[in-house]
Amino acid sequence: MLRLGVNIDHVATIRNARGGAHPDPVRAARQAAESGADGITAHLREDRRHITDSDIDRLMAEIDLPLNLEMAATPEMLEIALRHKPHAVCLVPEKREERTTEGGLDIAAGHNHIAPYVRQLAEAGIRVSLFIEADPVQIAVAEAMGASVVELHTGAYCEAAIAGDAKAMALHLKRLQLAATDGHARGLEVHAGHGLTYDTVRPVAAIPELAELNIGHFLIGEAIFRGLREAVTTMRGLIAEARA
Ligand code: PXP
Repeated sequence: MLRLGVNIDHVATIRNARGGAHPDPVRAARQAAESGADGITAHLREDRRHITDSDIDRLMAEIDLPLNLEMAATPEMLEIALRHKPHAVCLVPEKREERTTEGGLDIAAGHNHIAPYVRQLAEAGIRVSLFIEADPVQIAVAEAMGASVVELHTGAYCEAAIAGDAKAMALHLKRLQLAATDGHARGLEVHAGHGLTYDTVRPVAAIPELAELNIGHFLIGEAIFRGLREAVTTMRGLIAEARA
């Protein structure tokens, strides 16, 4: 089965545009859970632009689904993760000026910085995932570092879809397929996400080695028109169809 993690960051983005408590990302997490999500993903950014510390407290206390905490490899975030002990941590690159996580973490270049984070999180019993590009070097380093999961960045594939570039889409999809096969063969659990929509999810979901997709921005946007329950249910249906 291919799990669906629903990323609720952008419910918090809308809330924070006005301050106050509405719309509540924890309520969104509850609705996602009721609509067939297998997990909740939230990115606690250094600048707290969307998810806040109190959202993480409440997600841990009020939501039964596993929480996948996305975070940068910094001492502050490590302390928060070790205090909460979420089901999973996904280490991501983070730049203040970026609008979203633009690329994968370069764990080959950043090995000496990232490896101690992987070790300390894993020792605390937290499933550690590394958000990387679909690149054989990065996958080999993830294995050597002792991560249990790699999440493949699907951004380049989705950008090619937006540009209507079928050739680039096919190329990026092939890279994702090869990376999923490679990661799986090395004993890593392989996830994927970033930028996926109803139009782009099927070929990715059809990759048999993938165990989890994490999807956020499109679902929250679609929820404006169709409600979050229907958006999540439809995405779940497309994933199931692709796997059938
Ligand atoms: N996976 C990771 C590691 C991410 O950083 C993000 C974006 O926060 C996602 C998945 C979800 O991407 P999107 O919001 O574009 O669906």
